[in-house]
Parts: sequence; C-alpha cells; structure tokens
Amino acid sequence: MRPAVRETYGPVDLGNLPIFAGGFINFGHWHGINLTPDRPLTETDRIRSQKDLYRLVLDAAALPKAPTVLEVGCGLGTGCALTVREHDGATVTGMDIHPDQLTRARAAQAELLRGEPLDGNPRHDGPRPLRFVQGAAERMPLPDGGFDAVVSVEAAQHFPDLTAFARETARVLRPGGRMAVTSFFTTDAAPGRPAELAALLDTFANGLDIAHPVTALTDAATAAGLTDVRATSIGADVWPGWDRWLSRWWDPGTWPRNFLAAYEQGILDYYLVTADKRG
Ligand SMILES: C[S@@+](CC[C@H](N)C(=O)[O-])C[C@H]1O[C@@H](n2cnc3c(N)ncnc32)[C@H](O)[C@@H]1O
Repeated sequence: MRPAVRETYGPVDLGNLPIFAGGFINFGHWHGINLTPDRPLTETDRIRSQKDLYRLVLDAAALPKAPTVLEVGCGLGTGCALTVREHDGATVTGMDIHPDQLTRARAAQAELLRGEPLDGNPRHDGPRPLRFVQGAAERMPLPDGGFDAVVSVEAAQHFPDLTAFARETARVLRPGGRMAVTSFFTTDAAPGRPAELAALLDTFANGLDIAHPVTALTDAATAAGLTDVRATSIGADVWPGWDRWLSRWWDPGTWPRNFLAAYEQGILDYYLVTADKRG
C-alpha cells in the first residue's frame, strides 16, 4: 500500500469527520440540493449529496435484478449498504486495500453482514447480502466473471495503476457486465498537470491523489477489451456544492477550496466513466 494511503485511512475515521459525515468519504453530487447563498447547508444535505453520488453510479451501472456488485475502494461500506438496501436482492462485495477501513466497515455494517432482514426488503433466506474483502484495485483476490457490475466511488484517484485496475475489472466482470467508476481526473494529459495540481492541493503534493488524465482510465478500459467506453463530466454537480460545504471551515484560497479553483482553471474535473464487457 502506498504510504499516503496508509496514513490517510489509518487510525482516524474520516467518515465521521464533519466535512464528510454519515459514514461516507466523497465530495458528493449536489444536483437538486438548494445551494442558494442565503440558505445554510445542513448535515442532511451533505449526507444526501454522498448518497446521490452512489445512486448516480449505480444507475449508470444498469444493474440487472438481484445483481452481484463489487465496489472497489469501499471505505466504511456505507455505499455497499445503500446498494443492498436500494437494489432488491443485491449481493455486494466491498473491497478496500486498507485493513483499518475494513475493520470500521465490518463494525458499521454488522447487521447486514449477519444477513438480518432489511426494513422493507425482507428477502434474505439465501446468500448473505454483503461481505468485505481486503484487496487492491490492481490485484483483486476474486474469481473470474463473478460480478454483474464493478463500481467505484472516489477511489480511483488513489490507484497507482489504472491499466491493472481496468484489466482486473474486465476479468472479474461476467460477460455482459458493466463498470461504473466516478472520481476526479485531470482534463488532459498535458505534462505540467501534476505540478500544477501539487501547487494548488496538498493531497496531490503529498502523493495521496494522483494526477491521472481521464483518458488514462478510458484508454485502459479499451485496452482491457471493454466496449462502449464513455467518460462524462459531472463536475458542475460536484465542485460548487463541495466548495459551498467547505466554506463553513475554510476561507477561499486555502486547502481544500482549491479543488474548485482547479476545476475553474480547466485542470481537474469530476467524471463518471462507464464501460461494458461483451456478452
Ligand atoms: C475517498 S475513500 C472513498 C470511500 C467510499 N467509496 C466512499 O465514497 O465513501 C477512498 C478509499 O479507497 C481505498 N483505496 C485506496 N487505494 C486503493 C487501492 N489501490 N485499491 C483498493 N482500495 C483503495 C482507501 O483505503 C479508501 O477507503
């Protein structure tokens, strides 16, 4: 595991810090949340934004009935739990590289791990709906062809090797399955981008986030044999809301409000990337 990832997701539980909240660790999708300047945002808004980012990805994954879903970089497993609750009959595997995150995930999702009936979804006589495994995006400890969908929410910015991630995704998808990944990437492959982002944002300077161009993922998906590869910018629904939420604690120009600056300068954007495995 890379040192910056080990430290960031170690003893401190980011999912319970006020900037994240609700057991999620992502910037959120703020479409439909009232961002007018005179209306203070609430913790409920913040949690909704993070749930909605998951819902966007799960919609894009076009899940079949009773889907088998792998989430790569699942953090505290809150998005895995949402998937089980909102997709009837779903069986979800949450994978994360960090053992501390998985310890927290197993504690937070203990009910689902025991296979107890869900409110409004009392179906679980069969396989348990949720499990967690430790593994890296680049080397998944999972069999071939086991998943209808591979999803990932705000984790790919940490993956050192998107070629290996795409190859492993193609391997573990069943024929006809779909990948749906959302995260932030540079808008192009200009050689100055890593230095520009390191100058603006601590997490790029310290190596936690990697300045991958979005084409690194789309090209890797194509090279792995996936088809209908698409990257869609969703930044307009991510960055302004995230920045508004951050303004509670940070002044303009300070870390991490430079995420919005990087977006406005055309360096960084937030994307949804989908690709299919031939049936
Ligand atoms: C920003 S958190 C997102 C967590 C969750 N998806 C969410 O939205 O709440 C990123 C997660 O990716 C995990 N991660 C980082 N590098 C990884 C890798 N190479 N393979 C698998 N997981 C990784 C981290 O341990 C962390 O839990």
